[in-house]
Amino acid sequence: MNSGYEQHLKRVELRRNDLEEKLAELFPCETKLSLEIGCGHGHWLVDYAAGHPEKSCLGVDLIQDRVSRAGRKRDRAKLGNVQFVKGEAFEVIDLLPAHVRLSEVFILFPDPWPKKRHWKNRIFRHAFLSELAKRCDSGVRCHFRTDYEPYFEWATEVVAEEALWRRDEEIDWPFEKETVFQRRADSFQSMIIVRK
Ligand SMILES: C[S@@+](CC[C@H](N)C(=O)[O-])C[C@H]1O[C@@H](n2cnc3c(N)ncnc32)[C@H](O)[C@@H]1O
Repeated sequence: MNSGYEQHLKRVELRRNDLEEKLAELFPCETKLSLEIGCGHGHWLVDYAAGHPEKSCLGVDLIQDRVSRAGRKRDRAKLGNVQFVKGEAFEVIDLLPAHVRLSEVFILFPDPWPKKRHWKNRIFRHAFLSELAKRCDSGVRCHFRTDYEPYFEWATEVVAEEALWRRDEEIDWPFEKETVFQRRADSFQSMIIVRK
């Protein structure tokens, strides 16, 4: 193994250890979480947590500055039931303590990755839904919303082939509050899928 690759592996290990430690500190006891993936600056989740004081919420985003701003928003609102973590969604779901389960999931205006060679980066894909399913009991809902029509079509096809999730078109969207990207969108489409 060359030393550059070894250093990369070491960095990944350190990052994963830090994240695992942080998540264990945040959630020391058995918890059911409302998870928002790609929470951006936390506008949506702070309002959601304020409107649902009985729920424990976690927002995850790749970008530290967004997560920091989300945390400040939470602090200004004096909320104790919402946390924000910088991390990649797959990794966070993998590294949550074993006693943490997900009670609901929100993916609002995820990065659309329009170029075909980048479709593999779309968060809403089979590998991700399988990982998510490990943390979700039967009946748990995942809410997906996008303003990019080809992504919605893609997501519809992914779900149609899914063994672990089914689409439910009868369920109403549970909480309407514009996200930053929703405000900029001319139109959008929503889908709710349910863990089988
Ligand atoms: C288009 S923005 C939408 C932000 C917000 N949900 C909204 O509607 O305004 C997508 C967000 O997802 C984050 N993101 C993209 N891929 C991610 C991943 N794999 N894990 C966690 N966050 C991710 C990005 O950093 C970005 O903040």
